Amino acid sequence: MSRSTRNVWRKLKYGILTCGGIASAVLVYGSFTGHELLYRSILMPAVAYIDPENAHTLAVKLAAHSLVPKDRSMPDKALESKLFGKIFPNPIGLAAGFDKHGECIEGMFKIGFGFVEIGSITPLAQPGNERPRVFRLKQDKAIINRYGFNSVGHDVVINRLTNEKRRVNQGVLGINLGKNKTSTCAAEDYVSGVKKFAPFADYLTINVSSPNTPGLRSLQGKKELRNLLEKVIKARDELTQSRPPILVKIAADLTPQAKEDIADVITKAPYKVDGVIVCNTTTSRPEDLRSQHKHETGGLSGEPLKKLATQTIREMYTLTKGELPIIGVGGVSNGRDAYEKIRAGASLVQIYSAIAYEGFPIVKKIKRELAELLRNDNIGSVSDAVGLDAGESNEKFL
Ligand SMILES: Cc1cc2nc3c(=O)[nH]c(=O)nc-3n(C[C@H](O)[C@H](O)[C@H](O)COP(=O)(O)O)c2cc1C
Repeated sequence: MSRSTRNVWRKLKYGILTCGGIASAVLVYGSFTGHELLYRSILMPAVAYIDPENAHTLAVKLAAHSLVPKDRSMPDKALESKLFGKIFPNPIGLAAGFDKHGECIEGMFKIGFGFVEIGSITPLAQPGNERPRVFRLKQDKAIINRYGFNSVGHDVVINRLTNEKRRVNQGVLGINLGKNKTSTCAAEDYVSGVKKFAPFADYLTINVSSPNTPGLRSLQGKKELRNLLEKVIKARDELTQSRPPILVKIAADLTPQAKEDIADVITKAPYKVDGVIVCNTTTSRPEDLRSQHKHETGGLSGEPLKKLATQTIREMYTLTKGELPIIGVGGVSNGRDAYEKIRAGASLVQIYSAIAYEGFPIVKKIKRELAELLRNDNIGSVSDAVGLDAGESNEKFL
């Protein structure tokens, strides 16, 4: 090889190394500063090549070590609200199922969530269903999961929460309770969760709506729900120290009669709860789903759930006469989606599936867009927007 050819090769090599170095530095910088475009167009499409459950586990582990982009934006007073006697710095929360075992609470507050819900947690450890049990429906911006309450059990999470030095004022912690698959008395499972987690929780969620535990959703029937909630509320009221608010999380696939029955039960003592989470994943499959995994068994979440969830919020707000705070969840991926849920009757909003497509910077984006929408409509705070569209018929939004 001649000297001049060697020179060209050397320059080319340095050029490639320099470009590679710069690109890596940009990627690392972008991922730690939470650059939205970088996440949406490079990082998350790359993550899509990893098996969905492995990607989920990796995200939780990174967040557990605080390797997540910190939201450095200034808190916006318009997004703050007071509910259950607690200050929520913003209305965007992490939905149950992402941090099932309470591993990355700090990390989730760091990315800017106003509240974080961990779980579902079952009394005894159980493995859940066999893998594969999570599927990305990429073209539909959706997920189907049939995890089936894989849980490390109450005691492991209690230990974690006991050892964790949660900073004060960092946000509100919800703890979502499930039941064991082989349990013969559901009420006992939930009551045990209430007693054990009460000292750690700003609110407790009674999850009777996951589609992946046989028989669970029948606990939403009028008689069954009364029987369950009476015991749960009694157990909470008998606690001597902290008595956290009790919320019930309902399904997306309820008949009009079932929704009326639930509203009737949860607004009347001795079954009266403090709030309702609307809603869990759906077992329905909209006809326009395009992705290859659309026929997998499990609960569908993300974009295709959005309208159904918002309609259910509007109905539950009307049926409960706005007496109970609603946490709206299902298909939220931007400020407009969150705003629609709030105007339909939600006081707070949660997200999960959209994180899988846009990464953690989505939280900052939703808050920024929501604040802007409130300002454009001359609405001073989130609480002033709650239920503004609740009186409208659902048909208007179809
Ligand atoms: C992979 C996965 C696991 C979930 N696990 C739980 C769970 O353990 N408990 C629960 O109450 N909801 C669980 N959910 C439901 C979510 O909390 C939420 O209600 C639903 O996904 C709709 O919100 P999204 O469209 O923003 O994802 C899970 C959802 C997903 C995608």
